[in-house]
Amino acid sequence: AARKASQSILGAALNRRAFSATASNASKVVVLGAAGGIGQPLSLLLKLNPRVTELALYDIKGGPGVAADVGHINTKSNVTGYEPTPEGLAACLKGAEIVVIPAGVPRKPGMTRDDLFNTNASIVRDLAKAAAQHSPDANMLIISNPVNSTVPITAEVFKSKGVYNPKKLFGVTTLDVVRASRFISQVKGSDPANENIVVVGGHSGETIVPLLSQSGYELQGQQRDEYVKRVQFGGDEVVKAKDGAGSATLSMAMAGARFAESLLKAAQGEKGVVEPTFVDSPLYKDQGVTYFASNVTLGPNGVEEIHPVGKVTDHEQGLLDKCLKDLKGNIEKGEKWAKENP
Ligand code: NAI
Repeated sequence: AARKASQSILGAALNRRAFSATASNASKVVVLGAAGGIGQPLSLLLKLNPRVTELALYDIKGGPGVAADVGHINTKSNVTGYEPTPEGLAACLKGAEIVVIPAGVPRKPGMTRDDLFNTNASIVRDLAKAAAQHSPDANMLIISNPVNSTVPITAEVFKSKGVYNPKKLFGVTTLDVVRASRFISQVKGSDPANENIVVVGGHSGETIVPLLSQSGYELQGQQRDEYVKRVQFGGDEVVKAKDGAGSATLSMAMAGARFAESLLKAAQGEKGVVEPTFVDSPLYKDQGVTYFASNVTLGPNGVEEIHPVGKVTDHEQGLLDKCLKDLKGNIEKGEKWAKENP
């Protein structure tokens, strides 16, 4: 018994060594746009996460205020807010493991995410430039819409600086899965905590494709169409209800915090961490669609494995065909803009 015990202690010690050799202990998380509707509750949730050791908050307005407020919460992490200057942004980004970007304008009723392109493209480009310079190795989490275009824009900026790593750029589509899981639980009377509906494609309207069949569900006719529409246009419900005051912020903050937590878990050595996310993906490259959201296994270096879409029904294939067509246009629009507006 004693030998067994000493072996298991040795095993634990070896594991610890293996763990510290591969996993990163640094966990500085940066939020750019931290004083916004998403940024504030996201910063709050990140402050409550014990995996975060340093929280750095930047906004063109109000970063230090949010940092002072959140910084009083009695968890260990240090919180710093930065002035909206190039120096402030540089200091904020330095040494980051994760950079989350919810900076930009949200939708008003009647707008599509693409209507935000003109404003948000340059905001994301400028922040990406700073990140490429000051935190080139960080995992970049893009929340700012239209995600289908802002992710390719970020990639183009990183490519132009020679620091692009496709394994570390993520469009945050977690909210689509959160909604798809909540909405099916409302149809089926199930516990939403046990639902994890696969959603693939992109992050706007008909590029969002829920694959209910992969959870063993089969809705028919009107019920199916209403469900799909609700997942694809769930964001519009919030935009309409807020009546001009913006789009989803609280559910988005939860979704963003969940994705950051998953990345930190993976970075700290946990195996089998899977999240849906919009990444540089081989799945539909042959059809000219260079970025695609599907389930991705995360590891210490970001993307570890991109899961294929898997088996789908004929109806789901129809949704996927429509998605690919729209998505290709959104991606090309972002790439073209980034090249013309360096
Ligand atoms: P908001 O207007 O409340 O906050 C945006 C914040 O960004 C503001 O505090 C603003 O000062 C800041 N900002 C603007 N330009 C900046 C810059 N150059 N550098 C740093 N900060 C800057 O908007 P909200 O509701 O927080 O939404 C932010 C973005 O997230 C929008 O583009 C929205 O469409 C998107 N979104 C994405 C979702 C997703 O699932 N990926 C879901 C919901 C919203």
